[in-house]
Amino acid sequence: MLLTAKATVTVNAAFMQEIKEVHQDLWQCMDRALTICGMHEPNPSHIVTILADLRDQVALHFALEEAYGYFEGPAHVAPRLCEKADRLRSEHAALYGAASDLVEDADEWHHQRALLHHCRHIYDRLQTFHVDLRRHETRESELVLAAYGDDIGVGD
Ligand SMILES: [Fe+2]
Repeated sequence: MLLTAKATVTVNAAFMQEIKEVHQDLWQCMDRALTICGMHEPNPSHIVTILADLRDQVALHFALEEAYGYFEGPAHVAPRLCEKADRLRSEHAALYGAASDLVEDADEWHHQRALLHHCRHIYDRLQTFHVDLRRHETRESELVLAAYGDDIGVGD
């Protein structure tokens, strides 16, 4: 195994797994958002509210992962695992940005009384966000398994 001397990012596999297991609120919120935004004639204020809830759930989820799931690891952690951890952690900003932009656009269109006109567009962006977030979560779960496999990053 190659060794690296610099500070590295890795995962606390036990905490990360726990955050993912307990965070059902995020996925329930996602399901509700997809249902509401996919309706034939949704209520515009419901769209704005559920998208804002989703953005807040995403922010909470990432904050927990960044506080307890990821950490600046010891120098002996396998470089390939650190690279993956670093890449995945840095995806949070773009994913949060997408959720946040979606709320801002929906809110602006709502104030312009044009939200229903943009409904399909909102729904498409929400679906894309859903796919991107699922993919990110799957890769983080794979990282947790890799961390267990390497017997590193496992918290007490
Ligand atoms: Fe994450």
